[in-house]
Amino acid sequence: MLRDAAALEALEAATGQAERGQSAYWKDGVNTFEVKADGTVAGASVLGMVSRKTGPLHRLMHWVLQFPFRRMGARFTPLADSLDIGRLIARRQHRAYTYDLLRHSLTLALVRHFVPLDRLDEVSAVIGDGYGMMASHLLLANPGRKVIAVNLTKPLLLDMVFLRQAVPGVGIALVRDAADMVAALADPTVNAIAVQADNAAALTAAPVALAINIVSMQEMEPAVVAEYFRILRAGRAGRTAFYCCNKLWKRLSDGTEVSFSQYPWAAGDDIVLDEMCDWSQWVYSKTPPFWHYRKGEGRVIWHRLVWLAKDGS
Ligand SMILES: C[S@@+](CC[C@H](N)C(=O)[O-])C[C@H]1O[C@@H](n2cnc3c(N)ncnc32)[C@H](O)[C@@H]1O
Repeated sequence: MLRDAAALEALEAATGQAERGQSAYWKDGVNTFEVKADGTVAGASVLGMVSRKTGPLHRLMHWVLQFPFRRMGARFTPLADSLDIGRLIARRQHRAYTYDLLRHSLTLALVRHFVPLDRLDEVSAVIGDGYGMMASHLLLANPGRKVIAVNLTKPLLLDMVFLRQAVPGVGIALVRDAADMVAALADPTVNAIAVQADNAAALTAAPVALAINIVSMQEMEPAVVAEYFRILRAGRAGRTAFYCCNKLWKRLSDGTEVSFSQYPWAAGDDIVLDEMCDWSQWVYSKTPPFWHYRKGEGRVIWHRLVWLAKDGS
């Protein structure tokens, strides 16, 4: 298992390599930005927007435009604290608290409302994060609980670069297999465990009690999605909650159709929440009428929180 700077350097060295988990969409997607182990980032990214406009006027504009979104999350009790965590991440990364960060703060509030995250002998996993946004929220909400981040190699490096800014002093381990995973879990100085998508099976060696996937399964081949479900159902935690927020339907650039209802859900899954995701369905901009609804086929974003039926249960 590699640690900290060595882990990031190994990810940087591997960025050009072919990956089985890369859909047609992501074969191009990873070429839209550059990231280095020393934290240098360049290029427009399909992973979301990072705005450096942090002056008082821009802050006020986001705060006003985010009002309806805060209301959408009002029914989840840890909302205020979750929003504070998001704002702290923005400050530490010298970026504006934009729509993308807000979506992740709202997700944190929702998840904390339903899923206890205080057990430190269990871990949370984020599949397909962006700029380490969800992993940062989870680590700052429950500092003693390890978080696993699974992603394609280059976006994973970007996740770790931003995570290091959001959580100063964070201990990072790059894990490649089950033996590495056991070592990382046993090491009290490791907070974040980075796993390249093609090594995702290493997760079966971890007690993953919460997994989160936000608008990324919609860009994976169905076989890759099925493998993630298999891994989560096989994992060592007695119970595993899965928060899944994705388009109901999408056609990938090679013509493959992916559908939320066709993910390998099981009859024994215990559904806690299952509805359209308001804060993903609406988006804001500075162009009137400021709040825009994503209309039309292929634009409906759904979220579901389930306790997964586990293997052998
Ligand atoms: C549109 S971005 C979403 C980023 C973030 N979750 C958000 O909501 O803004 C999709 C993410 O899925 C990741 N991804 C694509 N294929 C993957 C795979 N096979 N395993 C894990 N992550 C993958 C991409 O690298 C990217 O980080």
